[in-house]
Amino acid sequence: MTYLDATAQFYADVATTPEVGLCCVQSSPLIMPGLVIPDRMQAMNYGCGTTVHPAELAGEPAIAYVGVGGGLEALQFSYFSRRRGAVVAIDPVDEMRQAAAENLAEAATLNDWFEADFVTLLAGDAFALPLPDASVDVVAQNCLFNIFEPADLMRALGEAYRVLKPGGRLIMSDPIATRPIPLHLQQDDRLRALCLSGALTYDDYMQHLIGTGFGQIEVRARRPYRLLDAAQYNLDQHLLLESLDTVSFKIAIAPDGACIFTGKTAVYAGAGASFDDKAGHYLLKGVPTAVCDKTAKHLGTHPDVLVTGSTWHYDGGGCC
Ligand SMILES: C[S@@+](CC[C@H](N)C(=O)[O-])C[C@H]1O[C@@H](n2cnc3c(N)ncnc32)[C@H](O)[C@@H]1O
Repeated sequence: MTYLDATAQFYADVATTPEVGLCCVQSSPLIMPGLVIPDRMQAMNYGCGTTVHPAELAGEPAIAYVGVGGGLEALQFSYFSRRRGAVVAIDPVDEMRQAAAENLAEAATLNDWFEADFVTLLAGDAFALPLPDASVDVVAQNCLFNIFEPADLMRALGEAYRVLKPGGRLIMSDPIATRPIPLHLQQDDRLRALCLSGALTYDDYMQHLIGTGFGQIEVRARRPYRLLDAAQYNLDQHLLLESLDTVSFKIAIAPDGACIFTGKTAVYAGAGASFDDKAGHYLLKGVPTAVCDKTAKHLGTHPDVLVTGSTWHYDGGGCC
């Protein structure tokens, strides 16, 4: 049995017997006026952060959701795209699609704005999305891609890239590791399926996104997620996992590299009223301007420019 088969079996089991807190959700569920979440759907919240960022969802986007779980985020996305088929949710596990269908049917009875056919549930997997090229505005996945081994992760990211329209967004939430996870844990299929041992480091995770071709990546959140303690996991020291929420844009990578926004700002502190680096960055004296990490590094070499650190909470605006 491959680790992907073991993962599918694991999720078939937790579809029929929900395990509350399975993936140790790090954010409280997104509460919106008039949105009622069925109890069983809430109990099947198997994500680690959130992929539902209202600011990304203007204009009722077409959404592909990979790895449906109990349907919670599919329902939350529907809140912003209230039309038949706006959210296509894909999952290879029959039991999981069945559970999601039941939860969404219950949601339709609890929410007068919601019809179950706003979400189309499709059999399929992350490596062969049953969607045409350039057909959706948003692809989202929560706590699935971290399970994949690196070559499979590249296949899944490539599929997300393929189905996105130009300019479209890949919204992800995954655990990352504060140092490389030792092989004996990586090779444990059950820990992988539990989203505990497949996590990459931050740099490695970002390199996979850039390697797929995403030209701009924005970090929405980065928080502590779980501690793998030394005794239980046979480690020489404790290993902290974090959860990382990102939005990656299908735009060309600039010749000098991708723009990654992590919440840094640049502030001009010189004698004049403003500073223009003649490369598209115009700073008013004393006013912090959001910049990507690449620009922060470049401007940080100027003696009159102060660069602030990553807040790991960037939600739009700024240079580039
Ligand atoms: C950790 S759960 C996350 C569920 C949901 N995203 C959430 O936040 O509650 C992983 C989900 O991915 C599904 N899955 C497993 N292997 C998959 C694959 N190869 N392609 C797509 N989905 C997969 C599982 O059935 C399960 O629904």
